Amino acid sequence: MKNIPKVTALCLSIVFISLSSISNAQQRYTDYDPIADFYNRFWSVPLERLAIGKLEKIMLPNLKPKAEILDLMCGTGHIAATLHKKGFRMTGLDGSAKMLEFAKKKIPNMKTILADARYFTTSKKFDAVICMSDGLNHIMKEEGLTKAFTQVYKALKSGGQFVFDMNWEERYIKGWNLRGLRVEYDNSEGIISSSYNKNTRIGSIKFWLYYPIDKAKNTWKRKAWELTQYCYTPQQIKKALQTAGFQTIKAYEANQDLGDARNAGRAYYVCKK
Ligand SMILES: C[S@@+](CC[C@H](N)C(=O)[O-])C[C@H]1O[C@@H](n2cnc3c(N)ncnc32)[C@H](O)[C@@H]1O
Repeated sequence: MKNIPKVTALCLSIVFISLSSISNAQQRYTDYDPIADFYNRFWSVPLERLAIGKLEKIMLPNLKPKAEILDLMCGTGHIAATLHKKGFRMTGLDGSAKMLEFAKKKIPNMKTILADARYFTTSKKFDAVICMSDGLNHIMKEEGLTKAFTQVYKALKSGGQFVFDMNWEERYIKGWNLRGLRVEYDNSEGIISSSYNKNTRIGSIKFWLYYPIDKAKNTWKRKAWELTQYCYTPQQIKKALQTAGFQTIKAYEANQDLGDARNAGRAYYVCKK
């Protein structure tokens, strides 16, 4: 009889562990679903140009022709489409089904994976994994960042490269201070504001889109969204990469190492398995 509470506690912890692993497995980042169309029109092209310019300097010369590349957090697929045209065999992964729909339209024969970067698995091993345009800053906890790096490490072939960019604090301080930027969007109008809180190290972008209900009556419907990012220190990023297994890690700061002053504070990492 004395053992009953112990047995009960054991059973309860097994149930708790099973339930938390189920909820982790089901957890998927979907915050871009409502703004996928907006992102595809306004942001993906300039971000593709920025990313490809850097990949041409730090990654592409080291890849064999037709290498297999996983584009982690591929978004609407502009970067994957350009690399596909260059002959690389692309797979795109994203947490947002809406973002992936755009990616599939651009590269109809590309394999896509709807999954969270922290929990994805692949049977295929890749020559390279890329994750561009500060995708990894969307992971709000260090534990989650380590999980994503660990899954990337597993998905790479031995000797494979992991190339990504992340915003360091300088980027948030210099760039995340938009105050009511106005955009026109089909019949609609939008306002975007961004901010960065040094105490919490959280960056936020808020969108308000106004759709006309009845132009004659000047009535509008408003939709509002917020995206957040976490600003990791370079030490936190390095520690998470090392915990995942990466030993060869090189960071290039956009301004100082790659001559891109407009993107000062964006750091490009090249890691090797
Ligand atoms: C700023 S966009 C970058 C998209 C693309 N890499 C590019 O350069 O255009 C960030 C993307 O990361 C995806 N994302 C953010 N966190 C994610 C997560 N934990 N798992 C999977 N996708 C995630 C979003 O859905 C979004 O498509």
